[in-house]
Amino acid sequence: MSPLTYAEYLRMETLLSLQDPRTPPTSSRAVVLAEQFFIITHQSCELWLKQLGSDLDAAAEALVPPCDPHDLELGLEFLLRAGEVVRVLQQQILVLEKLPLRYFAAFRPSLGTASGAQSTQFRRLTTLLGNNDHQGTLYDAFAAAAEYHGQSVHDVCRLGVESGVLHRLAEALVDMGNGYWHWKMAHLALVSKMVGEGGGTGGSSGVDFLARRVTRPFPELRRLRGRMHHS
Ligand code: HEM
Repeated sequence: MSPLTYAEYLRMETLLSLQDPRTPPTSSRAVVLAEQFFIITHQSCELWLKQLGSDLDAAAEALVPPCDPHDLELGLEFLLRAGEVVRVLQQQILVLEKLPLRYFAAFRPSLGTASGAQSTQFRRLTTLLGNNDHQGTLYDAFAAAAEYHGQSVHDVCRLGVESGVLHRLAEALVDMGNGYWHWKMAHLALVSKMVGEGGGTGGSSGVDFLARRVTRPFPELRRLRGRMHHS
């Protein structure tokens, strides 16, 4: 048997065959390349969303009681990685600001009704992270872990570093939540640059719709941390 190669291990042939611009090959090369750029950034986002979702699932599972200190450290490790991944996702949005508008306008009709709003991987994040009014499963797992170790989330926020790994978990959650928030803001700015006041391919009003959806995960944690100013 021949030794495993880089290309085989990473299934390179399949991977590089998945970028299939719909712009007719007879169109200008610049338009075809712009659509390839659009597809690659979206596909990269979906790959990172796969990693993010798995890491957040693993973090939540590690925190569900019974959880010993080793489980808490494991949850933290997953959460810290997820925090970095969400920043990579934001960078994917920023790079797309270099999509020339005239080429985007040329290939956009071929998107039909396809829209990022249909991303099932992204939607799953809402369940994990919650929004302004809803805590999300990750926060619920963290609160249960704190309780299992004899502390409320308020105690963890009040005690700070004295809470040890529970404090580091709380900070990692807020960092993760802010990373998600930054992603939403970056996406909003990108959409404003690319479609102005126009609607989305998914049928929404565009920027106005997205601005209403810029939510802050972990509202309870933010509220309790904010109490530091009144103690
Ligand atoms: C030129 C680039 C982009 C434009 C013009 C754009 C435009 C839009 C618009 C207008 C919406 C609202 C729904 C609609 O009516 O279609 C939307 C939603 C969304 N887009 Fe994008 N988008 C772009 C890039 C991306 C990228 C790279 C991703 C990464 C996966 C993405 C993911 C999403 C998600 C997840 C939503 C739903 C957001 C939410 O529910 O709050 N978009 N996009």
